[in-house]
Amino acid sequence: MSTPSPVTQSGSRPVTAREFRDVIGRFATGVTVITTEYDGVRYGSTASAVSSLTDDPPMLLICLNRTSATAAAVRDSGTFAVNVLAEDHVDLATRFASRVPDKYEGVPTETASNGSPLLVGAIAHLICRVAEPVEAGTHYVFLAHVEEATSYPGHPLAYFRGRFGRMQTAPEASVLREVRARVLDAGSDVEEVIDTGRWAEELGVDANLIHRALVALADEGLIRRQGGEYLITPVPDSIIDEVYKAKLAIETGIAQLTVGTAEPEQLARLRELMEDTLGFVKDGHFTDPEGWVRANERFHEYMVELAGSAILLDTYRRLCLPGLNLRALDGGSYASSSLLDDHRELVEAYEAGDVDTAAAVLRQHAGRPLEMRHQDQLRRGAPAAAVD
Ligand SMILES: Cc1cc2nc3c(=O)[nH]c(=O)nc-3n(C[C@H](O)[C@H](O)[C@H](O)COP(=O)(O)O)c2cc1C
Repeated sequence: MSTPSPVTQSGSRPVTAREFRDVIGRFATGVTVITTEYDGVRYGSTASAVSSLTDDPPMLLICLNRTSATAAAVRDSGTFAVNVLAEDHVDLATRFASRVPDKYEGVPTETASNGSPLLVGAIAHLICRVAEPVEAGTHYVFLAHVEEATSYPGHPLAYFRGRFGRMQTAPEASVLREVRARVLDAGSDVEEVIDTGRWAEELGVDANLIHRALVALADEGLIRRQGGEYLITPVPDSIIDEVYKAKLAIETGIAQLTVGTAEPEQLARLRELMEDTLGFVKDGHFTDPEGWVRANERFHEYMVELAGSAILLDTYRRLCLPGLNLRALDGGSYASSSLLDDHRELVEAYEAGDVDTAAAVLRQHAGRPLEMRHQDQLRRGAPAAAVD
């Protein structure tokens, strides 16, 4: 197998902070909240820089920015707890990474023997005493003795390249692939409540594995969660219209912020990602619909990332565009090569610093899915309006 071409490469010059973040972000971690109490006040910070150190004596280390209020409180109290978050704790992770005045408001807690708050529902608690605080550049590294350790059932929250996710065992991954294929094979006008028990029987696997796969697909936007049930729902024109309007609003705003200000290396990366999207359309069809959706996702998300706002990126991802596109497309779907022309023109507008052209291309691009769908219906002989 040949080595793939690198995404980020510093070569022999010094590694920039951006490159380091991008490359180290490939190291997937769990997510914890470090909690402590000092002088009657409770502190807490989301942290992924946590590592076990020695098992005899049991020791671990945490790295906290010196600007963090929690870091100062850990330094002063000499005690803390590590709360390992569960996969449904994205809200807690976000809350404890924010600067809200009272991070504990509405969060169920208990108190550890060393006085640190313990988050109820965490999948592990480690009660720690600082052995040595080390100052390392912008951070404190706290080497600590683990005085008590408790684990609970549950699956961990994962963090990879700036996104929260789930850890997956190999059997989970293979069931997810099969369940996903079934949902995609259902077509875009099917309405079905998924019968977890029947699917488990048909695939010969435990119903829990099916359930976990459904949770992941709902997060991706491929199916809908309603009460305790999971539904395959049709993808009518009205949903495509609504989501693409929101996408256009975000992307036009991003263009206003970034056209003319993007760095040359960012423009080069944008062009590379655009070029990766070419070649997926041949003779009026997608050669590989899933490949197209993924390449298209990387290109558009990179544009959003250029604004440097995690909130914007998160909002954009909540539109679940890849899931919507995957449900709406199949191998036979009509595909217009204008999609690729739009991408090319968009990058050219970025390179020319021409925000008006970029906005105009984005507008025409946002109309393509419905345009293509209507073409598709005409080609297949169905009246265009019948789908909605
Ligand atoms: C997934 C994730 C992991 C983080 N890991 C760390 C970390 O290891 N060390 C750190 O100092 N900050 C980390 N942060 C940032 C802090 O949570 C954030 O700066 C927080 O606002 C600090 O709160 P405080 O000032 O109340 O202590 C992380 C944030 C997120 C979302």
